[in-house]
Amino acid sequence: MNIILLGPPGAGKGTQAQRLQAERGMVQLSTGDMLRAAIKAETPVGVKVKSVLAAGELVSDDIMVDLIGERLDQPDTEQGVIFDGYPRTQLQAEALDRLLAERGRELNHVIELEVDEEALVERIVGRFSCGNCGAGYHDVFKLPKVEGVCDVCGASDFKRRPDDNAETVRTRMAAYRAKTAPILPFYEARGMVSRIDGMASMDTVYDELTAILDRD
Ligand code: AP5
Repeated sequence: MNIILLGPPGAGKGTQAQRLQAERGMVQLSTGDMLRAAIKAETPVGVKVKSVLAAGELVSDDIMVDLIGERLDQPDTEQGVIFDGYPRTQLQAEALDRLLAERGRELNHVIELEVDEEALVERIVGRFSCGNCGAGYHDVFKLPKVEGVCDVCGASDFKRRPDDNAETVRTRMAAYRAKTAPILPFYEARGMVSRIDGMASMDTVYDELTAILDRD
């Protein structure tokens, strides 16, 4: 099963994708994580996109389509993918259809997390993650069970994203409204869009999400 999680920055896409990966064996394909890894490794793509991410703008479609195409060629993606952060433009959505069809795969669900944008700033500025395994946390909503120790891998080094500040978040939200939200009708026309209240608790969102996946 291949699904897209859609929603503005901080909607909870990554949180839910990590849990689906851990509990259902699906593969989280986070384009933000892929780009941050490229930046860290100083690959040619990483060098090119570093300032784009820092500004909260969208990376160009050609880079993103190549990145997703290469990732879909890795065999682990055959068991089902959660697209987290892709597609973000109409062109990327059309390219995804092509990339999946070329590999004999199809898209099953597009799930939009509906949220109150004002509350998202608080979510984003409070976010941090494990520097070792990437597990996500929040200063208020999801602290590690033992202070300073990752629940998943036991590491004690945590990090925050440089683009997680109130100013850049506004730019990222504007990009979502202008370029990403308008792709919903493309999928609505195929009857594959479901909506979930992303302001509910993380557990409730997860339960609703899995109920949609289990409907098939
Ligand atoms: P990306 O990494 O995808 O960032 P984003 O879309 O801005 O999404 P976030 O990761 O900020 O939010 P999320 O929805 O995953 O929220 P999370 O679950 O962490 O992209 C970064 C950048 O890369 C972009 O700005 C762009 O430059 C570039 N890029 C990436 N893909 C691209 C593409 N396809 N095309 C072009 N450019 C691209 O949750 C946030 C916090 O809230 C967490 O701390 C969490 O614990 C908490 N939380 C989650 N759910 C709940 C809940 N229900 N209740 C309370 N707290 C919650």
